[in-house]
Amino acid sequence: MNYNVLVSDPLAEEGIEILRQFCTVDEKIGLSEDELVAIIGEYDALIVRSGTEVTARVIEAASKMKYIGRAGAGVDNIDTDAATRKGIIVANAPEGNTLAATEHTMAMMLSLARRIPSANVSLKKGEWKRSRFIGVEMNEKTLGVVGFGRIGREVAKRAQSFNMRVVAYDPFITPERGAQFGVEMMTVEDLFKVADVITVHTPLIKETTHLINTDSIATMKDGVRIINCARGGIIDENALAAAVASGKVAGAAIDVFEEEPPTNSPLFDLDNVIVTPHLGASTVEAQKNVAESIAHQCIDVLKGGAAKYV
Ligand code: NAD
Ligand code: MLT
Repeated sequence: MNYNVLVSDPLAEEGIEILRQFCTVDEKIGLSEDELVAIIGEYDALIVRSGTEVTARVIEAASKMKYIGRAGAGVDNIDTDAATRKGIIVANAPEGNTLAATEHTMAMMLSLARRIPSANVSLKKGEWKRSRFIGVEMNEKTLGVVGFGRIGREVAKRAQSFNMRVVAYDPFITPERGAQFGVEMMTVEDLFKVADVITVHTPLIKETTHLINTDSIATMKDGVRIINCARGGIIDENALAAAVASGKVAGAAIDVFEEEPPTNSPLFDLDNVIVTPHLGASTVEAQKNVAESIAHQCIDVLKGGAAKYV
């Protein structure tokens, strides 16, 4: 039987090739909700990254859909309740981009500490201002990891190789489990008090929305640095911008935004804030991994089997 699959965000060619062995694949990028609603009834499966909002309206119109695949970790752009009500399997590919997001987090931390983006711009403008770009070392600093899952743990390992002390908060990880990684688990309140650098690696859920806000920032060390390569909305961007402007926060590195693409973010005006356009998973290796994983799961489901990551 031939199945119709819609790919509505850029997917690595390796995944498309797997799908084409069993399905007719249409790649239509950048569709509006109305455009999706108009055509979605023709498809047995839909594959997205983070660019497509799969709303309840889209799912309602998906009359023969059996599978929605998210080529990446977060499924917050898919109305999973609406999909479940309609009996559609939603699967993701949570492991394929873990190391890409980990390495991006490390790159952001070191860029922030050594002010590399600003120094790069300055030198290319013809300046030679060595004293302006004095950095700080990560050696012997305390890294606070909020969310000790796949990425949080990999970040911890790499930070330890820089001789950082790593502490973490995760309500689902025991102190004993943390100790296996050489990491002290603590309350989020204590983590905010002791960390020189804070990096968040949680999903965006009710409990983590604006976890970093004006009040929590006030409890942090003066000169703390903050990194978000997880999800926009975990940090209150206005509160962070105000805290960087006041000097309370020495710098921030932000890959993900409350609204993507961001319009008029208060963070863009600040020299001590590094931003990237949601690049955490953007490596050749990660995109191949997630595309292959999501394509194999798609075929398994269309053939009547189960998805690995539901
Ligand atoms: P994961 O599920 O392996 O880990 C998340 C951890 O957060 C879990 O250990 C969980 O127990 C913990 N957690 C849940 N609620 C919490 C709370 N209230 N407080 C603290 N911790 C809590 O996920 P992961 O693969 O490590 O991904 C982490 C985040 O990174 C996700 O939001 C994911 O979408 C995002 N991500 C972003 C990019 C990117 O391109 N920037 C790439 C990959 C993943
Ligand atoms: C994810 O959740 O996997 C990331 O946000 C990366 C992506 O956009 O695919």
